[in-house]
Amino acid sequence: MKFHRVSRLAGTVTVPGDKSISHRAVMFGSLARGKTEIQGFLPGADCLSTIGCFRAMGIPITQSGDRVTVEGRGLRGLSPAGSTSGVLHLDTGNSGTTTRLISGILAAQDFRTVLSGDDSLNKRPMNRIIRPLRLMGAEIRSGRGDGCPPLIIDGRPLHGIRYTSPVASAQVKSSILLAGLYADGETSVHEPALSRDHSERMLSAFGAELSTRILGDGSAEITIHPAEELHAQQITVPGDISSAAYFLAAGCIVPGSEILIRNVGVNPTRAGILHVLQRMGADLTVENARVSSGEPVADLHVKYGPLRGTEIGGAEIPTLIDEIPVIAAAACFAEGTTVIRDAAELKVKESDRIAVMAEVLSAMGADITPTEDGMVISGHGAAGASSSPLRGAAVDSHKDHRVAMSCAVAAMAASGETDIRDASCVDISYPGFYSDLLKLADH
Ligand code: S3P
Repeated sequence: MKFHRVSRLAGTVTVPGDKSISHRAVMFGSLARGKTEIQGFLPGADCLSTIGCFRAMGIPITQSGDRVTVEGRGLRGLSPAGSTSGVLHLDTGNSGTTTRLISGILAAQDFRTVLSGDDSLNKRPMNRIIRPLRLMGAEIRSGRGDGCPPLIIDGRPLHGIRYTSPVASAQVKSSILLAGLYADGETSVHEPALSRDHSERMLSAFGAELSTRILGDGSAEITIHPAEELHAQQITVPGDISSAAYFLAAGCIVPGSEILIRNVGVNPTRAGILHVLQRMGADLTVENARVSSGEPVADLHVKYGPLRGTEIGGAEIPTLIDEIPVIAAAACFAEGTTVIRDAAELKVKESDRIAVMAEVLSAMGADITPTEDGMVISGHGAAGASSSPLRGAAVDSHKDHRVAMSCAVAAMAASGETDIRDASCVDISYPGFYSDLLKLADH
């Protein structure tokens, strides 16, 4: 798909629902007893994979656009309803969140499941959940023995554990907490920094008993008690800050732009991009802050202005891990150097986002050096009326939705034509992204 520089981006946009929250609403609604109604659901391919999995386990779910109704059957209400051969095969598509969170639930069911997805998903590391779930008593293994899907899971009675996770990962934490709902005692997860806490917030709303302790070194310990029952909820999903990020970055780098993004989730465990862009000098304000379904929400207003380089690392990384590709694109338009470190997790996302972002931005003329745990970008300053630090190029998204969207943002301010290969992968998290972006250019 081909893109050209635009003269400015202006107007108001409402981004689709938060991906992490949409997955959890369907999962927890399926485990609760009664009817959970979800508004603002993200109808992207990843969240539809989650719906497909729970339907295959006998849960009636209706979905029409961003409205979903889940008829939960209780914690023990899942069955291998969709199995044709006696073994339930679940297709988790491109979705790491579906695969890892569902594994914690399947570890306690009394049937065998085989989980696998697309080529990218089947290369993602699963030992990070296999290890703790085994410690809880689960029988779970990688079918090829390489620590990747397919995963073969035989449910077993589970025991509570105290687990120290080497990575700050909400997928790992949530997988263990979900298994903990079924354990015979308390389960705690210690993580080096607090990762997104949507599971904790939403499980509490569904009636689970859990607590979070932030320790002196910034690490976090989350404890959950086994549950008898979860109770159905009405959930309104806020817009996804990871999707809003593309408009924030575009507003900062396309001269003359002014964009209002309405109804965005600004949970502090997700809002790192706001602090980074403000540190870079962006004209970015958070307006109309409120709380909806237990999550902080606000409108975000961004205006074009010069950016300067910054350093990003440590506990800030989990709060913006999915936004690093587009931050890297924006950093090319900053004055000075941007250093991103402590972000080795980027290598095991939908693509190796360190290598791939270095590849695509270099192709567009950026001065970017990949490192073991991040990247260093020497910004060449803002685009001018007829000049730009980046030039259009043919770039390969590697079928990674966040890479494709980051390239489209860079293309809005690059000279010449940018041709993004496999651009349709944005449907994973943001169907309609390109038309929403280009609509802002029609002024
Ligand atoms: C997610 C957690 C993050 C994030 C992913 C969604 C979640 O992954 O990158 O897009 O919904 O829990 P990790 O837990 O692997 O960091």
